[in-house]
Amino acid sequence: MSESLNADWWREAVIYQIYPRAFADADGNTIGDLKGITSRIPYLKALGIDAVWLSPFYPSELADGGYDVADFRDVDPKLGTLEDFDEMAAGLHAAGIKVVVDIVPNHSSNKHKWFQEALAAPKGSPERERYIFRDGVGPNHDQPPTDWRASFGGNTWEPVGDGQFYFHTFAPEQPDWNWDNPEVRADYLKTLKFWADRGVDGFRVDVANSMAKDLSEPLPTAAELEKIEIGPNHPLYDRDELDVIYHEWRALFNSYDPPRFAVGEVWIENKERLARYATKEMLGQVFNFDLLRADFRASEFKQIVSEHLAVAKKSGSSTTWVLSNHDVPRHATRYGLPLTTPGEPFDGPAPTWDLGRKWLLSRGTDPVEDVELGLRRALAGTAFILALPGSTYLYNGEELGLREVADIPDDQRQDPTFFRSPGYDVGRDGCRVPLPWTPDGPSFGFGPAGANLPQPAWFADYAVSVEEGAMGSPLEWYRQALALRKQLLGAERGELEWIDSPADTLHFRRGDWQCFTNFGMSPVPIPSGEVLLASGHLTGEVPGATTVWLRG
Ligand code: NOJ
Repeated sequence: MSESLNADWWREAVIYQIYPRAFADADGNTIGDLKGITSRIPYLKALGIDAVWLSPFYPSELADGGYDVADFRDVDPKLGTLEDFDEMAAGLHAAGIKVVVDIVPNHSSNKHKWFQEALAAPKGSPERERYIFRDGVGPNHDQPPTDWRASFGGNTWEPVGDGQFYFHTFAPEQPDWNWDNPEVRADYLKTLKFWADRGVDGFRVDVANSMAKDLSEPLPTAAELEKIEIGPNHPLYDRDELDVIYHEWRALFNSYDPPRFAVGEVWIENKERLARYATKEMLGQVFNFDLLRADFRASEFKQIVSEHLAVAKKSGSSTTWVLSNHDVPRHATRYGLPLTTPGEPFDGPAPTWDLGRKWLLSRGTDPVEDVELGLRRALAGTAFILALPGSTYLYNGEELGLREVADIPDDQRQDPTFFRSPGYDVGRDGCRVPLPWTPDGPSFGFGPAGANLPQPAWFADYAVSVEEGAMGSPLEWYRQALALRKQLLGAERGELEWIDSPADTLHFRRGDWQCFTNFGMSPVPIPSGEVLLASGHLTGEVPGATTVWLRG
């Protein structure tokens, strides 16, 4: 098939997120690297994924796990070289796996050449115009222009010592760009072209709703800002000016054959506004994160599926399904925590998320994680999303059934959220611990030296070499499920149709492919049809927390 016939490869793809620093370390500096990824291409191929998305591997001081980028068109020497990148991309392509890279357009690192130039240049200079500088307030100009709180804690404005402050949505090491500046826009186009010319198939766009800003005076107070709805009138998020930026990007993407793919990371509630990022004039696809925040309940899952299929219809794109990524507690752990009940303290817009955070704060002791149930639900949830129309994003290690690591000692934590909250939020390190490849060795086979975050002893049970070939292991189950999904998608599947089913179960069909999930705890009868796959052992019935795929 010619490449151009395959322009829509992403619509129902399985895209595997690699957090490079945690994946495989080839050079023994304790940090995962590109050669490490290359060495594991046979593993990725055997898993049966369609694409990998690499979280940032660019030069970075790691103030935010690589999302503080010092040079957007190079590889961090700790992770390799551009030649290593080319070798990795060629190897992945030869294995039939597409390559998606992360683009971070809202901010750079404070070590970026342009930010260093801005610091060295005077107030009002063109160098400072690339970022967002403002005069401090008060008689000595030593107070921040507003009392806004940054995403990782602390004020959003950092003083530079000459009466000016710069703006940062995230950590102070991540100054926000000024997207009104044509130089900034042109530089990003150059970056996108740089990677697209290197054969990259697509881009994951970090905080894709935040670059356009209206910081004209008078600026609202934090309390006033809270009350402004996210959208065209909000000074910071989801403004209409983003359309112009993405139309330009799309024109560049479409100048390639096949057009380069893009998916936006957009955490907004308004579904109408969300759909806009996924249109073919804009990025083409947008993340749907609602399942990250949902409890393992049929009613919640059904509502989210229905809403997001409608969003996809509206945008003309396909939706995305995600249960884990590098920003949230792993789903095998979330699902091992008690379900929240309406009216109880953790009920609310983000129940499992909040409960996961509470659990992390207790170092994994409160509430007690039900490991067995967590894994059963995790596999059932994965089987459920793999059967839905749309793309599935998997996060490295979930195919091993890996759980969150809760008890990382404070002096070994790395996430800025932990340092800036401070300690109030233990942060995201627990899902970024280097993967276990073997049950022993200095870092469970991650690399010849140690790992950059402490791996717990129980990682031995989840090692790739332990699960490989082991009947019923999560890894073997993922392989089977992905291979079967590929076969089933070989036929025209049409739209999803819901089928009536008992309480706390969901049943849908796509043509003759049926998916049935028992979200509850008691067994229910197996629907009629030929069982193709089960996420757990069937006992003549479908036990609790189990999904089956059927033909018929
Ligand atoms: C979203 C990324 O997923 C997260 O890891 C990062 O900290 C922020 N954007 C800032 O880049």
